Amino acid sequence: ILFLLKTVNDNKCLRCFTPLFSKYYHILSTKLCTLWFYLILIRLFSFRINKTTKLFLTLEDFFWKEYVSQLHLPYGPTGSELMLLKVLAATANYDMPAHIEELECKTCVVVGNSFAIKHTSLGNVINKYDVVIRLNDAPVRGFEKDVGNKTTMRIFYPESATYNPGLHNEEDTLMVLVPFKTNDLRWLKEILYDEKRDRRGFWRPPPLLWLVDRSKVRVLDPFFMHQTRKQLLGNKVRSLQLSKNFHPTTGFLAVFVALNYCDVVHLAGFGYPPKRDQQHPIHYFDHNTMKAMMKSPHDISHEARVLKKLEDLGVLKYLHPHL
Ligand SMILES: *[C@@H]1O[C@H](CO)[C@@H](O)[C@H](O)[C@H]1NC(C)=O
Repeated sequence: ILFLLKTVNDNKCLRCFTPLFSKYYHILSTKLCTLWFYLILIRLFSFRINKTTKLFLTLEDFFWKEYVSQLHLPYGPTGSELMLLKVLAATANYDMPAHIEELECKTCVVVGNSFAIKHTSLGNVINKYDVVIRLNDAPVRGFEKDVGNKTTMRIFYPESATYNPGLHNEEDTLMVLVPFKTNDLRWLKEILYDEKRDRRGFWRPPPLLWLVDRSKVRVLDPFFMHQTRKQLLGNKVRSLQLSKNFHPTTGFLAVFVALNYCDVVHLAGFGYPPKRDQQHPIHYFDHNTMKAMMKSPHDISHEARVLKKLEDLGVLKYLHPHL
């Protein structure tokens, strides 16, 4: 089973495969993908992840029934329901694009912002996945050779939004807000309804104008933030809960989202430089160094260990060598 799993995983569920496999594609793909899917489910189950493929909050979640979670943001919608109702009424779209939903086997790549993706020339490879997930304000133009130029969805929060999403995304890119606090939803509401902007309550000023097509805006279900923290961080959670500012990184969250939604999950641009190398750049696009990470509310070494464990289990795969 392990061998089969590894083979199939290495060959991206037989769809973007090597010529060798594509010859037998029609016969094999359905059966193997289904089998592979169940195997992954079993493995995920042992990691206590229940696969959930509904990624985004819908108006219905709040209008017709009571949302089950009692948690506050970023782990649940409690206390932010009214703000969510207004935002979701304005976006009026809550799904992934139909051409992706219909795929029997979805291949996904999460493109992190790490310096590690520089000089990998992975651009063309990345563009071939069904779903390309990017994070925050990571640019694409000027870096296409290494990071590609396809973006199915971009996961962000107001402080990491850029004034003109059109610059580094496609027309169809879904802009997926991760709400960390009620203010994040207020920011979105003020933009969608063109109300007076209130700049208070952010750790960095978010854009006051945001040139977005509202039908492309989605709100990530806080369920994923909760599960990411709870399940992937495992036993360590208890001690982490003591520091209330701790949050998973957007990249780590995106991996969890992908594991829920996709049948194949590959990563590129993940990994931080060694802690001792304080001068090493951390991103492929700017000059921030490890020094800037010192005060961050993330536990990056623990996240790296969890990702390594998932890699060893064969649940995900890196597209380039990493630390
Ligand atoms: C991505 O790059 C390819 C090749 O350079 C080009 O044909 C395509 O239009 C680009 N797509 C986007 C969304 O920029």
